[in-house]
Parts: sequence; structure tokens; C-alpha cells
Amino acid sequence: MSKNRKILVVGGAGYVGTELTKKLLNLNYEVSVLDLFIYGEKVLREHNNLTIIKGDLRDKDLLKKIIPGHSDLIHLACISNDPSFELNPDLGKSINFDSFRPLVDMSKDNGIKRFVFASSSSVYGIKSDKDVVEDAALEPLTDYSIFKAKCEEILLKRNSEDFVTTIIRPATVCGYSDRLRLDLVVNILSNLAFHKREITVLGGDQLRPNININDMCNAYIDILNQEEKKVSGKIYNVGYENFPVIEIAKMVKNVIGDDVNIVKKESNDNRSYHISSKKIYNELGFYPKFTITDAIKDLKNCFEKKILRDPLNNEFYFNIKRMNSIKLN
Ligand SMILES: NC(=O)c1ccc[n+]([C@@H]2O[C@H](COP(=O)([O-])OP(=O)(O)OC[C@H]3O[C@@H](n4cnc5c(N)ncnc54)[C@H](O)[C@@H]3O)[C@@H](O)[C@H]2O)c1
Repeated sequence: MSKNRKILVVGGAGYVGTELTKKLLNLNYEVSVLDLFIYGEKVLREHNNLTIIKGDLRDKDLLKKIIPGHSDLIHLACISNDPSFELNPDLGKSINFDSFRPLVDMSKDNGIKRFVFASSSSVYGIKSDKDVVEDAALEPLTDYSIFKAKCEEILLKRNSEDFVTTIIRPATVCGYSDRLRLDLVVNILSNLAFHKREITVLGGDQLRPNININDMCNAYIDILNQEEKKVSGKIYNVGYENFPVIEIAKMVKNVIGDDVNIVKKESNDNRSYHISSKKIYNELGFYPKFTITDAIKDLKNCFEKKILRDPLNNEFYFNIKRMNSIKLN
């Protein structure tokens, strides 16, 4: 399966990238990771089949040097949430958008056969439809989502028989990673429940689609393993459980402990997001195997083992805090 495939994971030292890289290595793929290592240098362990490249995807000379020799590219690198993007919109645009076209063109011209792009289900904006499907109109509300949508457009135009492109629109990811994010809904609630024994839910009826990080990684791997013609130029939502936030809070309490107090407060933001992930099941047979509860259990396990340093405050677990502190240009 992994013969003659060499995967370049751009952003492979991030929350999803770290776990994806481990899984690819376990499957005997040769992997290279290009990352700025904003969230720490030690998130990836050395491995005979892993090449680690510390660098900036905006550096065209570096890209020209490292892309040849790879067959597949998974693009995850990003200023990856709205608040971090808004902290410095010029920086956000330069990483999330301006660098995208050169990366795609250089990939196409230098032997990459398959290019998989991590977009976001936030490209849909807020929809009243029950299950938002891939051909719904895109109404992105923030610069982060607007640039994801624009990148999708650029990539689809480059799709061809010898440059197979696939776009993934993930739900919010949850669960443990060696590069942990504690600024995503399930992870936030689990962290507060474990360490403060209290969680506050604003509103609570809003639906939030989530996907366990194990399934998220498996979806990228599944795309790589599909026949080219099946995934060529395709877009897939990847989510699993669309639950109201209050239900997520109850799941957290169930796992973390009965003593956890859930405080419900009024919210004037009752917007719901809900996506359908039927297309990837119908077309590729991919379905999630891990639940939100599994993710909470994995987080609880890591909190109990005390492997995190200062999980309520440490900037490495909160993208906006980290971006604010490093002053990247
Ligand atoms: N985590 C989620 O819930 C979620 C949901 C929807 C979409 N996504 C998308 O999935 C992808 C991965 O998300 P994540 O949660 O792992 O994000 P993350 O912030 O943990 O990882 C992003 C990685 O990109 C690297 N990076 C940033 N700028 C770079 C640059 N200029 N050059 C090289 N590397 C750079 C960072 O160092 C980091 O390791 C992102 O594109 C994100 O938009 C994530």
C-alpha cells in the first residue's frame, strides 16, 4: 500500500498533523513534515521514515527544494482559528491565502500526484438546513473561512488527471494529540471539567458538529488509499456527531465525574452549525468509528497522567495565546 508513496505533510506538527504523521508512519509510509513548529519542537518523535523540515511554507525557495521526491501532499498548515487570524489579519492572509497558489503550482510542477487540502466546514456559514451538504452555497463569515473557500476554488481549477486534488471540510476536531489544542469545544469543556470541576455553557441548544481526531486522521489516510478517479476534484464534509453544546457538556460530566457542575447561562448567539457527512460514506465507504465520549476518555486519561504542564494556562495549548506571544511576521 505504502510502496513508492512519499507523503509531505505541511503543518504536520500541528494538532491533527502530529497524530496523522504517527499513523502514516505506523502504516509504513515515508513521511516528511514541513512546519514552523509554532506549538513546540518536541511534538514529533524521531523515526527512520520521517524527515522533519523546520521552515515556513511561504518560503518558495524552500518549497522548490523539498517538494521533489514526494508523491502526495496533505496541506494542514494554517493560522487555524478565527481569533488567531484576527490577531494579525495580514499575517493570516499571507499564510492562509497568499502562500496557497504558489504551493499548489509548485506541487503540480514538481511531481506531486495527489494534493489533499484541509478546508473547514465553516465555509458554509450559518445555514438553517438540517444537514448541510457539500454543494450548499458557501457563505463564509470570517476571513479565516473566506480564505479557505478561496483556496478551494484555486485548487479545483488545478485538478487534472496527473494532479488529483481532494478537499476535506472537517467539523471541529476533538480528542488527544501529542500537540494538544485545548481551545476546541469538546477539549475546552473536558479541560475545565477535570481541572475546575465546573463548566459554563452559554445557551446550549446550538448544534456543533464534531469529529474524533482518530477519525479525522483516518479520513485523510482513506483519501490517499482511494483510487484516484474516485477522489479527483472531490469535496467531502468530515464530521460525525452534531450535538447541542449542552449535550456535549453532559457527555463530559458523564466521563469526568458526577461532581462536575454544569452552569447554564443565557446567550444571544444561538447559531447552530450542522453538516451531513453522508457523501464520504456513500462514495468512499468512510464512516467514523470513534465517538465524542471516546475523545473525552482519552483526554481524561492524559489529565490523570499529568503529562501536560499547566493545562489551564499554558500558551502551547491555546492557539491565540501562543500566536500573541510569539509575534510571528
Ligand atoms: N482542529 C479543528 O477543529 C479543525 C476544524 C476544521 C478545519 N481544520 C483545519 O485543519 C488543519 C489542521 O488544524 P489543526 O487543528 O491541526 O491546526 P494547528 O494550528 O494545530 O496546526 C497548524 C500547524 O501549521 C503550522 N504552521 C502555521 N503557519 C505555518 C507556516 N507559515 N509554515 C509552516 N507551518 C506553519 C503550525 O506550526 C502548526 O503546527 C488546519 O488547516 C485547520 O484550518 C481544523
